[in-house]
Amino acid sequence: MFNSDVYTSRRNALRKLMPSGIILFPGNTEASYNYPANTYTFRQDSNFSYFFGLENPDFAGVIDVDNDVDYIFGNDFEIDDIIWMGPQPKVADLAAKAGVKNAASLDELATFIANAIRKGRQIHFTLPYRAEVTLQLSQLLGIRPLRLKEYVSMPLIEAIVQLRSVKSDLEVAEIEKAIDTAWHMFTTGMRMAYPGKKEQEIVGAMEGISIAHGRPVSFPIILSMNGQILHNHHHEGILQEGRMMVMDAGSETSLNYASDITRTVPVGGKFSQKQREIYEIVLNANLNSIAVTKPGTFYRDCHTVACETIAGGLKDLGLMKGDVKEAVVAGAHALFLPHGLGHMLGLDVHDMEGLGQINVGYDSEIQPSKQFGTAYLRMGRRLQPGFVITNEPGIYFIPELIDMWKAEKKYAEFLNYDKIEEYRAFGGIRIEDDILVTVDGHRVLGRPIPKTVAEVEATMADRID
Ligand code: GLY
Ligand code: MN
Ligand code: MN
Repeated sequence: MFNSDVYTSRRNALRKLMPSGIILFPGNTEASYNYPANTYTFRQDSNFSYFFGLENPDFAGVIDVDNDVDYIFGNDFEIDDIIWMGPQPKVADLAAKAGVKNAASLDELATFIANAIRKGRQIHFTLPYRAEVTLQLSQLLGIRPLRLKEYVSMPLIEAIVQLRSVKSDLEVAEIEKAIDTAWHMFTTGMRMAYPGKKEQEIVGAMEGISIAHGRPVSFPIILSMNGQILHNHHHEGILQEGRMMVMDAGSETSLNYASDITRTVPVGGKFSQKQREIYEIVLNANLNSIAVTKPGTFYRDCHTVACETIAGGLKDLGLMKGDVKEAVVAGAHALFLPHGLGHMLGLDVHDMEGLGQINVGYDSEIQPSKQFGTAYLRMGRRLQPGFVITNEPGIYFIPELIDMWKAEKKYAEFLNYDKIEEYRAFGGIRIEDDILVTVDGHRVLGRPIPKTVAEVEATMADRID
C-alpha cells in the first residue's frame, strides 16, 4: 500500500467536502465460488481501497466528519484460523498502516452505527454491488436490501467522484505499471496470432502474464476474430488466415490500479490491403482524438473528432457519402461505431462506474446524448489535469445492424449499403490507449504497445508457437 499519509490526506480531503455525519465504507468480503470456503481471488472494494488501502476481507472503515476521527472495524484472527493461514497481523496494526488510530471489532461496528442512528446522525454510504455487502449494510442500518438505493448519499458520491477523478503522480505511476504488464500481454498475444492457434490459448497466455506480474486481469479478456461483437468473451475460435483478431485486456497492480488496452491484429502477421485501409482509419481516429485531448475540452468533443475521422475515412473508401460533419451530427457513423470513445480509468477499469455512470461522466454542463451510439458514451464532461481516460475508437461490421438499417433505408443519404455489403464478414477493429490529461495537454501512458501497421507486423514477425 502507499504510505499512511496518502490515506490520511485522502480522508481529510473527503471530510472537508462533506457537510456532517458519518461515512461508512464497508470493505469487500470473500466471495464464494462453488462452496463457501472455496472463494474467488479477493478483490477489495475500490472506495475502501482509496481511503483505507487495506487488502483484508471483512473490514469496514468509518470517517466521522464532525469529530475528526477515523475507525477501522474488523475481527482479529483466532488460533484456529492461524493454523491454516499462518501468522496474521492484528487489526490495530493494519489500521495504523492506513493512518487510523482506532481499531475495533465488527460487533463494535454494529454498536457504533446503532448509537449514531439513535442520536439522529446521518450515515453516508454508496450503493453496494455485492450481495454480501448489501445484506451487511441492510442489517447495520435497518433498511431493507432493495430499499438501500433510496438512501444512498449524493453528497458522498459527488465528493468521491471529485477526489478520485484527479489522479496523483503516485496513482499515475501505478496505472503505468499496469500498462507495462499489458505491454507483455499484448506483444505475446500478437506473436501468437497465427492460423490454427486457439483463441483460448492466447487468452490463457495473456492472463498468465498478468498473474505472473502480480495480479489477475482488470476485467475478463475480450479476444476474438469476431471483433464486431463488442464485448465478446467467447474464445472457442481457431484462428484463420484472412481474419482480424481483437484483443481488449488489462492488468491490475497490487494496489488495484488498472490498465485497459486494445489492439487488433491480422491473423498471420500481415495486413491485407482491405484490412490496412480500415485499420488506418481507426488508427487516425485514435490519434486525432488523442491530439485534441487537453484540459477544458469536453470529452464528448474528443469523441466527435473520432467519429468524424471514421466517417471521413469511410467516405474516402466509398462506404459513406455526403457531408461528413452532417453525417456525424445525424448519427449515421454509429452503424460502424455504436459505442463511445472511452471512460475514466483508475482503481476500476470503468472508474467509479459503481457510483453511477452519470455521476462520473456528466455534470450540470453536459448531459448524455440520446442518440444511438453517442448515448453509450460513458463520459462527456470537460477534461481536467489529472484525469486518466481511455481512447478506444473502432469500426465494426455488425451484420444484424447492417441488415436492420438497410431494410429501414436508414441514413440512406450517408450510407452506401451496396459497398458496405462487401465488408459484412470483415469483423471489427478497435484500438485503445490510456491517456493522462496534463496541465497543457495529454500524455499517452505506459510503455508504447505496437500500434502502427509497421509496428504490429514487425512484432508479429517474431512468432511464438
Ligand atoms: N474493456 C472494456 C472497455 O474497453 O471499456
Ligand atoms: Mn478495453
Ligand atoms: Mn475501455
